[in-house]
Amino acid sequence: MRSNPHRGLALRMDRAGVAIAALLLGLVSVLFGMGRAHAAVGCQVTYSVNQWNNGFTANIGITNLGDPLSSWTLEWDFAGNQQVTQGWSGTFAQSGKHVTVKSLSYNGSLGTNASTSLGFNASYSGTNDAPTSFSVNGTTCNGSSGGGTPTPTPTPTPPQSGSHVDNPYVGGKGYVDTEWSAEAKADGGTAIANQPTAVWLDRIAAINGANGGMGLRAHLDAAVSQGASYAQFVIYDLPGRDCAALASNGELGATDLGRYQTEYIDPIASIMSDSKYANLKIITYIEPDSLPNLVTNVSGNTATTACQTMQQNGNYVKGVQYALNKLHAISNVYTYLDAGHHGWLGWDSNFGPAAQLFATVAKGTTAGVNSVDGFVINTANYSPTTEPYLPVNSQTRQSKWVDWNWYVDESTFGAAFRQQLISDGFSSSIGMVIDTSRNGWGGAARPTGPSSASDINTQVNAERVDRRPHVGDWCNQSGAGLGARPTASPAAGFDAYAWVKPPGESDGSSKSIPNDEGKGFDQMCDPNYGGNVRNGNSPSGALPDAPLSGHWFSAQFHQLMQNAYPSVS
Ligand code: BGC
Repeated sequence: MRSNPHRGLALRMDRAGVAIAALLLGLVSVLFGMGRAHAAVGCQVTYSVNQWNNGFTANIGITNLGDPLSSWTLEWDFAGNQQVTQGWSGTFAQSGKHVTVKSLSYNGSLGTNASTSLGFNASYSGTNDAPTSFSVNGTTCNGSSGGGTPTPTPTPTPPQSGSHVDNPYVGGKGYVDTEWSAEAKADGGTAIANQPTAVWLDRIAAINGANGGMGLRAHLDAAVSQGASYAQFVIYDLPGRDCAALASNGELGATDLGRYQTEYIDPIASIMSDSKYANLKIITYIEPDSLPNLVTNVSGNTATTACQTMQQNGNYVKGVQYALNKLHAISNVYTYLDAGHHGWLGWDSNFGPAAQLFATVAKGTTAGVNSVDGFVINTANYSPTTEPYLPVNSQTRQSKWVDWNWYVDESTFGAAFRQQLISDGFSSSIGMVIDTSRNGWGGAARPTGPSSASDINTQVNAERVDRRPHVGDWCNQSGAGLGARPTASPAAGFDAYAWVKPPGESDGSSKSIPNDEGKGFDQMCDPNYGGNVRNGNSPSGALPDAPLSGHWFSAQFHQLMQNAYPSVS
């Protein structure tokens, strides 16, 4: 963006070739009427859009350049026939061309020089010119401070000039997380302790190192000194995190989007853009479960109030878009959105809507669909890469296990979902990643061939290598083993098999454990729980005596080693 001292329109083309119109407006100083205290009012508004066919997403920034405000009303007139269809971070009202947005209880207070952001989706026909003027609390914003001193526009950090390749896993080794590796070794896992795993930035404190542990810089420095070509991080701290479960609820409340942006994403992006790391390919897995939860847990009998809240306030969508904007702008950072797994989004009713949601979210970012390098599936889950003996056909689809899903494994689901994403507008260069850290299902209970049983349920149960009671079970699954070791380019359309969930780290505690991490107790982690509608009222399949999510769970680690498939030699 370039600043313009006079009212005007600055246009730049981003990497995707999407035009961003940014309106930067000048300076105003308004003194209230004679005999009253002088209250300086000044404001600056930025307005940028990403548009497609007959729709667009607009992101608006307001900076208060005057005295502190306790609430604000933003107004403008559209230049054409734009119609707001959905707004967020404000109460929107449109009458003809005129739009009025009033602040909400949590974002009305704006100190001097403080900023806030809001946005909306809209339809339009014909041209989509930006509004030429905005006002805040009745005063036209023309951009600088109330005192008359122009406020310098911050210079954006220029994206680094490093290269951005199609598949970041190819051509070198992955960073071996020093801390995970030490735990694995200390617990009998030397044979696998040299595998690359992802580092979960699961709270703000993790950026600098929680509880004396390594922070982001320390991991990146270690990756450089290992001579790694890539390092993997999970971006996992959205407001209202884990809305359909309790075991990984996080530190940020449903409305804490501002903190997510400034205290979590901004510092991460600033560290990752350090030129020291320009030769490292930094892979990010963005917000496991969040967008899939907006597909399956906002209506009907699988809805949760927390997911409905996150859909209504838009903070999952806005948080993910913010993360994509900041991370994609760094050319050696790679972004993979989390896309659930076959036993979640595989059904027709979820498959199409999920791909559409991903497309809408990506199209609302600065670089549009190009801000996404690919999708990670099966994150921290147990769905096998391949079901070798269980065909999907008109018979097996009627079994309780398959339950009319079109997919029984991640390789077929991932390939089909990729095609759907491409037809919804994503580039054909997107690559899928399967988390194979715990989807091995080896050991004595593994079937060895097809079954000839006449009852379809008996047949399917004898054929499936996935030994869970139900495909909706997700917590510390009994009988699971390590899956394929991390592999680059394992199949066409797949960038990698990766170990995203560090094997040995719990999914959630088997009973309630008080903690200061925001983690709750989810009955799906209790081995005695009989289930709910989301897992077909089946047993949880969880191992007993598990610690809090993310904490080392030795008994599970041993079982993963024992049931590894391929086995650990
Ligand atoms: C937990 C995180 C942890 C991650 C990796 C998640 O379930 O909530 O705290 O870092 O798993 O083990």
